[in-house]
Amino acid sequence: MIPKPKVMLSREQIAARVAELGAQITSDYRDRPLVLVPILKGSFLFAADLARAIDLVDVRIDFLGLRSYGSGVETSGVVQITYDLGAPIEDQDVLIVEDIVDTGLSMRYLLDNLATRRPRSVKICSLLHKPARTRAKIDIDYLGFTIEDKFVVGYGLDYAEKFRNLPFIGVIES
Ligand code: IMP
Ligand code: MG
Repeated sequence: MIPKPKVMLSREQIAARVAELGAQITSDYRDRPLVLVPILKGSFLFAADLARAIDLVDVRIDFLGLRSYGSGVETSGVVQITYDLGAPIEDQDVLIVEDIVDTGLSMRYLLDNLATRRPRSVKICSLLHKPARTRAKIDIDYLGFTIEDKFVVGYGLDYAEKFRNLPFIGVIES
């Protein structure tokens, strides 16, 4: 039997924070075309809600798939691009949309990779940050919530590919 996760962040708490992040991004990118880059798969629900909270016309959305975890809860430190952007980002303002910055190793790899494509700017919007586990320091420009060192699932985040469809962020209690 798969245990039902306990709520850490409710769908109402998430929705309220996403609205705030969207408003902030809307005001910061008021006069600039924006390329949103959701990182698959974990950020798919967050990105879908965030995109609708950004009240701008000149927004392009392109996806990038990253894999850094096997089926467990520990990062291997080895990062792989599983799905790449469909178009160049040269001279464009990029906003990475991520589910969680945990060790920071995936984001470090991604930032280094994107830099070679010569974007005008790259900023990061992450729903969650687990500072207790930092191995590569990452400056998160737009952060939803700082959380304690617990493995979380739901709202896009998985454990062994399960729980992504939960409408809240939860913790699996054993
Ligand atoms: P990092 O490279 O350690 O920062 O982790 C990057 C990726 O690992 C995230 O984008 C998530 O997909 C996954 N991850 C890290 N922590 C968790 C967690 O608590 N629950 C589910 N996935 C996680
Ligand atoms: Mg994941």
